[in-house]
Amino acid sequence: MLKVPVVLPGREYNIIIEQHCLQHINDYVDPSREIVIITDDNIPKQYLNTIAPLLGDPFTLFVPQGESSKSMEMAQLLCEKMLKEGITRNALILALGGGMVGDLAGFVASIYMRGIDYIQIPTTLLSQIDSSVGGKVGVNASIMKNAIGAFKQPQLVLIDSTTLQTLDQRQVNSGIAEMIKYGLIASKSLFKALLEDDILPNIDNYIYECVSIKRDVVIKDERDTGVRQILNFGHTIGHAIEQASKYQLLHGEAVAIGMVIMAKNKSYYNDLIHLLAKYNLPTSYEYDKDEIYQYITTDKKATKTSLNIIVVDEVGNGYIEPIEISQIKEKL
Ligand code: GLY
Repeated sequence: MLKVPVVLPGREYNIIIEQHCLQHINDYVDPSREIVIITDDNIPKQYLNTIAPLLGDPFTLFVPQGESSKSMEMAQLLCEKMLKEGITRNALILALGGGMVGDLAGFVASIYMRGIDYIQIPTTLLSQIDSSVGGKVGVNASIMKNAIGAFKQPQLVLIDSTTLQTLDQRQVNSGIAEMIKYGLIASKSLFKALLEDDILPNIDNYIYECVSIKRDVVIKDERDTGVRQILNFGHTIGHAIEQASKYQLLHGEAVAIGMVIMAKNKSYYNDLIHLLAKYNLPTSYEYDKDEIYQYITTDKKATKTSLNIIVVDEVGNGYIEPIEISQIKEKL
């Protein structure tokens, strides 16, 4: 079992990485508590079937799989269902699933009766190393992803990497794109290991390293006003490409292309291309520059005139560079 403590002003919780921890979840989650499980209707039933009996068969809410469930309407519907069930403010929500479920269930936890406890149980690689950690929760607005939300740290994050065995390889690779990002912004040794080793037999160690990097950043800047932005390497252009592809590209795939664009003329460019190919990740995408620019200008991290981009000149060392928003055109 690997443990990453997250210590924030006035709050402290652990991220636990342990294979098969779901099979004894009652050692981590008090079954005598009032519990609500929020999950999606497409994650393998075995996970719910494993945890529910150990927790006294809690009230369980299913949402349809897919990003369209991450909406205000769905958050309201879940709250109404909990109210009808008589769920009190002492309840604990378990978010069982990928990033969509974690963001949505965490958001519900942040607003239900002005806020109740929640635990993240991420079941995809992307959510295990990124979205379940750091307390960003929320839903999408019709014209902007993640535009409505809150910072609400969970009570616990439980990562059982055996859930990756049921995950589609393309989804695993999408998560590996975020691992590559962690290497580029903060760890030369992680980047090298991703390049040279077979990571899957030791996946817990890699998850541990990524989560530790994210924890170190989040504790310095929980509210994302400074250094936390380095986690967005490749994301400004990546998000725009993801939107332009109408979400046909997975998040990690779009970020991979965003990282390649940001790595042009850098010494590690060829290694990055090689690494992305190793994990069947795309390195380019045919896009309309004006459309991408339009999406970038409406990114919620941009102001009307400026934008912070993340630059990596050498592997392991990401930094923030403020630029005029029009300068991003030169990168496209
Ligand atoms: N995914 C970036 C962050 O949590 O800040």
